[in-house]
Amino acid sequence: MTTAQIISGKQVSDDIRQNLKTEVEALAAQGCVPGLAVVLVGEDPASQVYVRNKAKACEDLGFYSEVHRLEADTPQEELLALVHKLNEQDNINGILVQLPLPGHIEEKAVINAIAPEKDVDGFHPVNVGNLVIGDDSLLPCTPAGVIELIKHTGLEISGKHAVVIGRSNIVGKPVALLLQRENATVTMCHSRTSNMKELTRQADILVVAVGRANFVDASYIKPGAVVIDVGINRLETGKLAGDVDFESASSVSGPITPVPGGVGPMTITMLMKNTLVAAKRAHGLS
Ligand code: GUN
Repeated sequence: MTTAQIISGKQVSDDIRQNLKTEVEALAAQGCVPGLAVVLVGEDPASQVYVRNKAKACEDLGFYSEVHRLEADTPQEELLALVHKLNEQDNINGILVQLPLPGHIEEKAVINAIAPEKDVDGFHPVNVGNLVIGDDSLLPCTPAGVIELIKHTGLEISGKHAVVIGRSNIVGKPVALLLQRENATVTMCHSRTSNMKELTRQADILVVAVGRANFVDASYIKPGAVVIDVGINRLETGKLAGDVDFESASSVSGPITPVPGGVGPMTITMLMKNTLVAAKRAHGLS
């Protein structure tokens, strides 16, 4: 039976959005309306949902937004030309090119074309590099959301042992760097780790981003540990499942995120926060 505290990403996200909205209103009164451009190439159904949700968030929070929908066979040169144009636009502070891109387009070339100060995904090598050396940067959204959720539990991250399962560029690696920046002692596990449970059972904070449904159960978890599940897996039944077996894990864990309703709602909220930060920097206000 679940006795663990469930961390509501929805609630945390709503609270942050309320604060963002207030701040955007104050900025707008000074003539600075943060602007986000979202670029979608092709008609991937999941991407269309994400793009709609991003435009909706802009509208709800008082941001200016542009959505650029391009045909699936758009030449790379044309996409790069659009990115260059958005880089020059003063009313746009954040640029997000929805991934994945069609196969004929080189994702790296597109990410590298975005002006680092407008890279609200935090994917540009300049932002990644600044994260590594601990300088100011735009933080990747999902990892930043993970840290917000851990802080929300009231746990002091400093001095704790955090274990991250998964080493992807978009989640595992940046989460590990952010935890280290919060003065956690960080261990990274991945598919070749031989003694994974031995390591995860020492974790005060366990972050799971492996992309395998119900990979982590109670046997991986130290009693009372904070567990953050970044996975979203579609089961054959059509149901969504995280990387953590919630029923099992929550019988021993401390605060734990559900799927859905945990990390998921945080990602767009952190995107909006990045866009606000970029707008303030562009106006010399941060
Ligand atoms: N596709 C799925 N998630 C993301 C994201 O966070 N950023 C971008 N650009 N594309 C995505």
